[in-house]
Amino acid sequence: MNRIVPLRPVRLLLPALVLSALCGTALAQDASPPMTSPMTPAMAPLRTVRSFDAIADPQERSRALFVEAGRVIQSPRCVNCHPSGDRPLQGQGVQRRLHIPNVTRGVDGKGVPALRCSSCHQAQNNVASGVPGHAMWHIAPREMAWQDLSLAEICEQLKDPKRNGNRTLAQIHEHMAHDTLVGWAWMPGAQREPAPGTQAQFGALVDAWIKTGAFCPAK
Ligand code: HEC
Ligand code: HEC
Repeated sequence: MNRIVPLRPVRLLLPALVLSALCGTALAQDASPPMTSPMTPAMAPLRTVRSFDAIADPQERSRALFVEAGRVIQSPRCVNCHPSGDRPLQGQGVQRRLHIPNVTRGVDGKGVPALRCSSCHQAQNNVASGVPGHAMWHIAPREMAWQDLSLAEICEQLKDPKRNGNRTLAQIHEHMAHDTLVGWAWMPGAQREPAPGTQAQFGALVDAWIKTGAFCPAK
């Protein structure tokens, strides 16, 4: 049992709070593991493909595999870049919000001429500022939006060549398992919570989902 006390980011706005806040932080840190992801308790690991072997019916197994992969797909690390509007999202869970400042996709998903994503997002995460980075940093096209969709709807969309960048299922697997922009979700930098598991485990779930017929959850 490894219960982690969530640490709040310390924002010392009033000098009067400084002393008590520092004491509280010092105490909490003593009882905590290294500061990799202080905001949230460790997430449940992704289930392995083999742990679904007990489901005899392949259709049912396929759906269950997708639901597990959906824990990654619907994580903020993916959805923030697959928004339904023209503006990316930032943040985690209920704190998720529209990107500040107001940036929009532009014609190529890399921003409008006056404010390109690359003005702020560099080729790598910026350790000092916490701004995430990747050489190909850009927003997913509108037809690939996942925000506000149910997992079943995302599943159907992923299989639809008109809405998945004209990819075969094999190419969807390849992208999920090996694309390095997707891979950013497991090394997001700053205090962001990574997507569950590893990209390799996620790729294995997607592969097994496809091999069992790529069935989608009912709802
Ligand atoms: C003026 C600077 C600036 C520009 C331009 C900019 N961003 Fe950001 N972006 C930031 C900062 C700073 C953060 C980190 C904020 C945070 O995590 O709370 C961020 C975070 C994000 C995140 C959140 C990642 C996550 O899951 O935590 C996404 C997605 C994102 N930006 C996409 C884009 C896209 C796509 C563009 C271009 C259309 C863009 N940004 C342009 C400054 C910028
Ligand atoms: C920094 C932004 C960004 C992040 C983070 C991101 N994506 Fe994407 N994603 C894109 C863009 C841009 C495209 C369109 C690229 C293309 O079609 O070549 C895309 C396309 C895709 C596609 C293929 C089209 C489709 O929707 O069927 C898949 C699959 C995908 N992303 C999965 C993921 C997963 C899984 C994660 C999280 C683990 C993720 N992405 C995180 C920007 C992002």
